[in-house]
Amino acid sequence: MENPAIIHIDKLTKRFPVGNGEFTALNNVSLQFEKGEFTGLVGPSGSGKTTLLNIIGSLDTPTEGVVTVLGQSIAGLSHKQSAQLRNKHLGFIFQTYNLFPVYTVYENVEFALLLQHIPAAERRKAVLDALEWVGLTDKINSKPPQLSGGEGQRVAIARAMVKRPAIMLADEPTANLDSKNSHHILQTMKRLNEELHTTFLFATHDEKVMAYLDRIISLEDGKVVKDEQIVHAKN
Ligand SMILES: Nc1ncnc2c1ncn2[C@@H]1O[C@H](COP(=O)(O)OP(=O)(O)OP(=O)(O)O)[C@@H](O)[C@H]1O
Ligand SMILES: [Mg+2]
Repeated sequence: MENPAIIHIDKLTKRFPVGNGEFTALNNVSLQFEKGEFTGLVGPSGSGKTTLLNIIGSLDTPTEGVVTVLGQSIAGLSHKQSAQLRNKHLGFIFQTYNLFPVYTVYENVEFALLLQHIPAAERRKAVLDALEWVGLTDKINSKPPQLSGGEGQRVAIARAMVKRPAIMLADEPTANLDSKNSHHILQTMKRLNEELHTTFLFATHDEKVMAYLDRIISLEDGKVVKDEQIVHAKN
């Protein structure tokens, strides 16, 4: 296959126990994502965007239906296998980017690689490459409290990208950033998408993000209500 789907979602339903009953957060969702997509999930608060990202990221499991990521069914994975999938193949960017405040920028990015047994010289090169991608080479010895919000988010992107994951899952990555930093970060992610063919999947409310997306999937009350390819005018 030329461009095989790397995420398959087939009739996914997710219900959470609440009180004596259940709440249906995702209701019979079927979707496919191909390698190299730059796609956004949009929809009102509570529509199920984060729940869907968490299941694709094997941080949560389906109640019904089948979710296959890079050929592996999420529900069938042992604890260890799902940790391996996350560590090796998935990158996560969250709205609150959770850097370690007492470690340097370099150490925060390197941390993602320490779980894998990578020789020191190779690790150093990977960290420096990742910091160059996000334009933070001059801040490698700074600590997160000394950074602006945009710089902190760029460290979080470098930390997620240093493993060169096949899939990046980003939950509201620009929610805490001003317009200039949002655009800078989106341009960085788009460049990584184009150069490394990393598949990106965002959850977002941010109009600025929409302008960069190639596909927009709208959720409402846990259902897909629209799935559109975006054709950008070439200039
Ligand atoms: N662990 C849980 N237990 C019970 N209900 C949950 C749980 N996680 C999510 N929900 C509910 O599922 C629904 C979907 O939540 P989700 O976080 O996926 O929404 P969202 O689209 O990401 O919203 P937002 O835009 O506010 O981030 C919400 O109504 C939420 O309250
Ligand atoms: Mg959310």
